[in-house]
Amino acid sequence: MARRGCALLLCAALLVLGAAGAEAAKRSKDKDPLAKDAKDASPSSTRRKSLSGTPVPATPAAPGRGAVMNLCDSFHIRTLNVYCSCSSQQLLNATEASCWVFGKSENESAPIWDSFSSQPNLETLKINVREESIHKFVPTRALSFLRKLKLFEIMYATIAELQPYAFANLTTLQELQLKRNQIITLKPRSFAWLPNLTTVNLGENQIVEVQREVFLGLPSLRRLFLDRNNITILHDGAFMHLSGLDELELNDNQLAVLTRETFSGLKMLRRLLLNNNKLRMLGDCTFCEMPHLTELYLNENGLQYLSVRAFEGLSRLSRLMLGDNALQVLSPGSLNGLARMRYLDLRNNELNTLAYETVKPLMDNFKNLSSYFYIEGKWSSIS
Ligand SMILES: *[C@@H]1O[C@H](CO)[C@@H](O)[C@H](O)[C@H]1NC(C)=O
Ligand SMILES: *[C@@H]1O[C@H](CO)[C@@H](O)[C@H](O)[C@H]1NC(C)=O
Ligand SMILES: *[C@@H]1O[C@H](CO)[C@@H](O)[C@H](O)[C@H]1NC(C)=O
Ligand SMILES: *[C@@H]1O[C@H](CO)[C@@H](O)[C@H](O)[C@H]1NC(C)=O
Ligand SMILES: *[C@@H]1O[C@H](CO)[C@@H](O)[C@H](O)[C@H]1NC(C)=O
Ligand SMILES: *[C@@H]1O[C@H](CO)[C@@H](O)[C@H](O)[C@H]1NC(C)=O
Repeated sequence: MARRGCALLLCAALLVLGAAGAEAAKRSKDKDPLAKDAKDASPSSTRRKSLSGTPVPATPAAPGRGAVMNLCDSFHIRTLNVYCSCSSQQLLNATEASCWVFGKSENESAPIWDSFSSQPNLETLKINVREESIHKFVPTRALSFLRKLKLFEIMYATIAELQPYAFANLTTLQELQLKRNQIITLKPRSFAWLPNLTTVNLGENQIVEVQREVFLGLPSLRRLFLDRNNITILHDGAFMHLSGLDELELNDNQLAVLTRETFSGLKMLRRLLLNNNKLRMLGDCTFCEMPHLTELYLNENGLQYLSVRAFEGLSRLSRLMLGDNALQVLSPGSLNGLARMRYLDLRNNELNTLAYETVKPLMDNFKNLSSYFYIEGKWSSIS
């Protein structure tokens, strides 16, 4: 008995670690080894025991309608497949809750979601779906009771579609962590009317396209992560309403075509990651809608052709990563106007010649010792 109880504690500890490490793992681009380990650490059989390891007495099923159970004191209810551990077990007093879903989750109309009304002061809610368990939706009903919620995280669910208003129009919400949920489709208005939302992380899902009107009414949104999905199409104006966005990660997708209209509305964007896609060429003025762009990552794309005017309008660009592509020429004029460029990486391309004319506009910038200019190549001539 005690051993099983410990297994659950261990599982809780691993989960906490997993959450803390998630951001670091994302940055390091590595697979998060904790994630799998944490999932393996807790077979669903362990949840029937209390945290102290003592066996749980036989108890009645979940209360029916009318009597709302305390979400943070529902451990003894043996019929539930959702279990939450909270910062306080008292009614109305918890500010943080971590929930685990075991086996086949509760359905969308199950009483457990109403029981979130017993803890309306939650500011942080994390839901982790255990291995071989199935949970297919964002618990919008539960969220609608949490009028102080700032952070919502769900991981390892199987949410094929995000529904309109999935996050219940919560005015306090600041951060949504939605990585690794096998999300394929974002319905229009799935992120809507969340006035304080600053960060949305949709990395490592299976999103195939981003339509217009998915992101609507998000005046505070600064960071949007769509990295490591299956995105082939960004519809024109998909980001139209994100006029305060600072950082957009679209790396590790299947994008083949970008136009000026792809990015319309992103007038404050500073950092854009497009590395490891399938871009073969960039046409005129592709980034013209983003005059504040300072960092642009286009490495690992198989780029063969850049229009002379591809980088037009980027007077604030300071870092341009073009390494690991298939560029054979860089036409004179293509780097004109990039007055603030300090880091240019052209390594691992097929450049045979590079006219001095082409890089001349940047030469003054590169005199600064903290700048770099990588242009390794199989030079036959620099003229
Ligand atoms: C809530 O919990 C805090 C600390 O855990 C405690 O000081 C406070 O009295 C509790 N409030 C209520 C209403 O129970
Ligand atoms: C949902 O689950 C509850 C019990 O948790 C059950 O009473 C109800 O019939 C289920 N509804 C559907 C549509 O399956
Ligand atoms: C959110 O707002 C929209 C539009 O006003 C409304 O249709 C929807 O029902 C609201 N959803 C919730 C959960 O409050
Ligand atoms: C939105 O965030 C700001 C700054 O963090 C805060 O002062 C304000 O109260 C928040 N608004 C709501 C509705 O929570
Ligand atoms: C996403 O891409 C992966 C790898 O290419 C593939 O296995 C998976 O089926 C794709 N998913 C969708 C929904 O297209
Ligand atoms: C070099 O760059 C640094 C950092 O941006 C800046 O503070 C400094 O003034 C620059 N020096 C010259 C000589 O341009």
